[in-house]
Amino acid sequence: MRISVHFPVRSSVVLVALAALLAVPSLFAQDLKPIQLPKPQTSGGKPLLTALDERKTARTFENKPLPPQVLSNLLWAAFGVNRQPDVKPGYGRTAPSARNSQDVQLYVLFADGVYIYDAVANVLKPVVAGDARAKVGTPAQASAPVTIAYVSDVKNDKYSSVDTGFIGQNVFLFAASEGLGAWFHAIHGDDASRALNLTADQHLLYAQAVGYPGPNAYVVPPPPTAPPTAPPAAK
Ligand SMILES: Cc1cc2nc3c(=O)[nH]c(=O)nc-3n(C[C@H](O)[C@H](O)[C@H](O)COP(=O)(O)O)c2cc1C
Repeated sequence: MRISVHFPVRSSVVLVALAALLAVPSLFAQDLKPIQLPKPQTSGGKPLLTALDERKTARTFENKPLPPQVLSNLLWAAFGVNRQPDVKPGYGRTAPSARNSQDVQLYVLFADGVYIYDAVANVLKPVVAGDARAKVGTPAQASAPVTIAYVSDVKNDKYSSVDTGFIGQNVFLFAASEGLGAWFHAIHGDDASRALNLTADQHLLYAQAVGYPGPNAYVVPPPPTAPPTAPPAAK
């Protein structure tokens, strides 16, 4: 005997939508928990001149996450707190900022979601669940386990690009010191700001992929060849 169950059309649509929601990874930030980073190690590493000598752009990455301590050290080196409030209000940071605005925010992108680095609490605060790396960079850049996206207030555009450059170089030097690869890059993708839940007042400036360098990490690929131009149409 065949038993058939009939749902009204509207109920079946709701059921399909529910099933789809359960099947995809959750997109809600409340599903992510804040990540308390271990206390950063603020000494050690290679001598500065050796790190400068080894700084370069990596273009392939191993599929291997960064250990929590390395991640904490990386973010601290990038734009962490390196001194208590002194002559200036606010905490001192490892990179300078115009008018000490400390305006650039580090959005940290992993496979599971996007977080904001809170340098004072040394915590990664969840922003949005899901993998946004490929919305910010090319597939090669998105293959790194971590992408740091640099976000500023649109009103501070003139200075925040410069501030980001200092932070990016800190990341490069830490990566060189630690045997990691880093790739500073422009934003590739129209949906990038939306993928990070940015508001109209926020500007996504650049991003930097970081991970263990993969095979041929330092071989610069040839520029893409231009598509052949069509011969002029006969008159
Ligand atoms: C502001 C800025 C934007 C960049 N954007 C890109 C990019 O969109 N894509 C890319 O492959 N590399 C990008 N780069 C990396 C440069 O191509 C790279 O630094 C340069 O080729 C020199 O290589 P090196 O870093 O190994 O010395 C960017 C670098 C800077 C400073």
